[in-house]
Amino acid sequence: MNVLIIGATFGIGYELSKKYLGQSENLILVGRTKEKLDNLKQEFQSPLTKISTYILDVTDKSNFKLILNSIVNKFQTIDLVVYCSGYYEPHDTFDIRIEVFEQTFSVNFLGMINCFSILLPHFKKQQSGHIAVISSLAGFGGLPNASSYGPSKAAMINYCESIKIDCNKNNILVTIINPGFVKTRLTDKNTFDMPFVMDADKAAEIIYQGLIEKKYEITFPLPMKLLFKFLQILPRPIYFVLVRLLTKKI
Ligand SMILES: NC(=O)c1ccc[n+]([C@@H]2O[C@H](COP(=O)([O-])OP(=O)(O)OC[C@H]3O[C@@H](n4cnc5c(N)ncnc54)[C@H](OP(=O)(O)O)[C@@H]3O)[C@@H](O)[C@H]2O)c1
Repeated sequence: MNVLIIGATFGIGYELSKKYLGQSENLILVGRTKEKLDNLKQEFQSPLTKISTYILDVTDKSNFKLILNSIVNKFQTIDLVVYCSGYYEPHDTFDIRIEVFEQTFSVNFLGMINCFSILLPHFKKQQSGHIAVISSLAGFGGLPNASSYGPSKAAMINYCESIKIDCNKNNILVTIINPGFVKTRLTDKNTFDMPFVMDADKAAEIIYQGLIEKKYEITFPLPMKLLFKFLQILPRPIYFVLVRLLTKKI
């Protein structure tokens, strides 16, 4: 099995990459940080898995085609791609810096589209493959102080729903992953208490198992999943009252 992890250098992507050591023939790791990618080659030594690393900024329009085409040409068959690259900057409702919105959408949404513009046609040609993307529970509904991050994650969820049927017709699986709070450098920016926060290794294990089971949706942890699924079906006036109460301390 050839596995491609985009955003493998830190956090959830890094921990998830570890799970494929010994479980994949080729593990192809992508990120921006060269030193970290070089270290991964040393750290991830396995007799069964060959590690390849590629430096890529998913927002770099001049480079992404070159890098992804060279990955596709080298490995021919890609069995699984997991898009883990993400950007989050906390800011309040009235602090609207366009560059924050641009960077958030560029990495979380358009970066994913950049990658899939090469990978999806390739998957169609090979008539197989599994694409998975990490969105967030923040994509389920609008939340205070998430007016750039939340919409970018909602776009990822909607995109996966949009492509699922056509992908399935071409024997391509789609998985959307919606974690709650996971302890990484991304959430180190949060100053509030994060309910049910979990380690990146545990989150990666849940994702890994869900991908083995070929689930369409991997949403966790359970208490947060139940809460957000419930909030999603509420009439909006009740939703706003509850969200206001739940986010009082944020
Ligand atoms: N942590 C949470 O609580 C949580 C909850 C829900 C969803 N998520 C989502 O889970 C995913 C992983 O987040 P994380 O918490 O593991 O964050 P993280 O530790 O900051 O890791 C983010 C990864 O994205 C890569 N990345 C960032 N910008 C990139 C770019 N322009 N091009 C290529 N790669 C880029 C980073 O690598 P380089 O810096 O080397 O490029 C890194 O490998 C994100 O989509 C995030 O939104 C996280």
